[in-house]
Amino acid sequence: MAYSTTTTTVALQVAGLLLALTAAAASANMMSGPAAPVNKSCVTGRAGAAVSIGYGGARASAGAGVSLGAGAYHATCPQAEEIVRAGVERAVAADPRMAASLLRLHFHDCFVNGCDGSVLLDDKPPFFIGEKTAVPNANSLRGFEVVDAIKAELERECPETVSCADLLAIAARDSVVVSGGPTWEVEAGRKDSRTASLQGANANLPAPTSGVATLIQKFRNVGLSAKDMVALSGAHTIGKARCTSFSARLVSGAGVSFSTAADMGFLQSLQQLCSGSAGSALAHLDLATPATFDNQYYINLLSGDGLLPSDQALASPLGADMPGGSDDVDVAGLVAAYALDASVFFQDFAESMHQMGRLARGGGGGGNGEVRVNCRVVNSSS
Ligand code: HEM
Repeated sequence: MAYSTTTTTVALQVAGLLLALTAAAASANMMSGPAAPVNKSCVTGRAGAAVSIGYGGARASAGAGVSLGAGAYHATCPQAEEIVRAGVERAVAADPRMAASLLRLHFHDCFVNGCDGSVLLDDKPPFFIGEKTAVPNANSLRGFEVVDAIKAELERECPETVSCADLLAIAARDSVVVSGGPTWEVEAGRKDSRTASLQGANANLPAPTSGVATLIQKFRNVGLSAKDMVALSGAHTIGKARCTSFSARLVSGAGVSFSTAADMGFLQSLQQLCSGSAGSALAHLDLATPATFDNQYYINLLSGDGLLPSDQALASPLGADMPGGSDDVDVAGLVAAYALDASVFFQDFAESMHQMGRLARGGGGGGNGEVRVNCRVVNSSS
């Protein structure tokens, strides 16, 4: 069965959307993401439907040696997207958290030398140390076995055709869709790296203790905007975090403060969860609708119920007006706009995922890529 998506587009004049866009106008007018041929003429008014993003009709260059395009496997492996989608659905049915874990894998892949499957490479000490033991990844990233299973099926159907990096990009999109979020067309044609960077993973990935300025900088460092940062943080509408990731939230007066009685109740429940757990107990990133991809994450932030310090920081007055560069953005204003209207968030999230999926290694390293047969190891003969 061919993979097809249902596209429901509504005109921008829809009253509810206009209302939200008005609310978002202050921030939207201030932002200008990386130059990209994005067509904003079609957005959807409901969850789970397609968000239309134009690619300007052309294949995009994602760095030297890598050319991305929509439908790249139509000729070489027409069943590729269907295989990934079915694999994601099976995995999420068995373990609902897997949608979040697969989405995060793509993010951690793309932030280190671009989306090149580097995060999937296993360590082979003492000869090769990859990214899996980096601080943001160790005892935290999951989903590698799911990727293995999908890749094995792809190799059976279309040997040496679909890269692990593309697999991750498609699986991330399908994870969002299966959780009730928006869909978008994934460009394909990424190549898998023959290297990885432990140092890059430690340096590039944002920490949960980061403030707004640092978060913006980490995104800018890889070529994404402040708006991308706020929109992509909405991925925290699904999934879980370990106590060790939000321990700074548990100390009254440290980091983000708790001011209302409701905040104190949230703090106390987290303290209870984490006491005696040695930091490994898990809390939902979105306490209200933990497995649904919606805009609840931003609604939580408005009431002080963001889990990670870096989440809650987005709604703090300090995040309200971050100066710097060409993409000045009213961070807290964007949070409010996304909390007000899920379709505004869905549109921006899809656009930012599209941008993140284009990240490529700088300096022309893309030419060394390959299509790995096994996502955990480089091909021996390349
Ligand atoms: C803005 C900066 C970000 C920071 C500081 C951050 C940090 C974190 C941390 C600390 C965790 C919990 C890890 C653990 O305790 O094991 C987490 C989980 C998660 N992150 Fe982020 N993240 C950020 C952005 C993103 C982006 C851009 C995405 C995807 C587009 C993403 C997707 C996720 C998901 C889905 C989870 C849950 C994973 C699971 O349950 O397995 N995050 N993040």
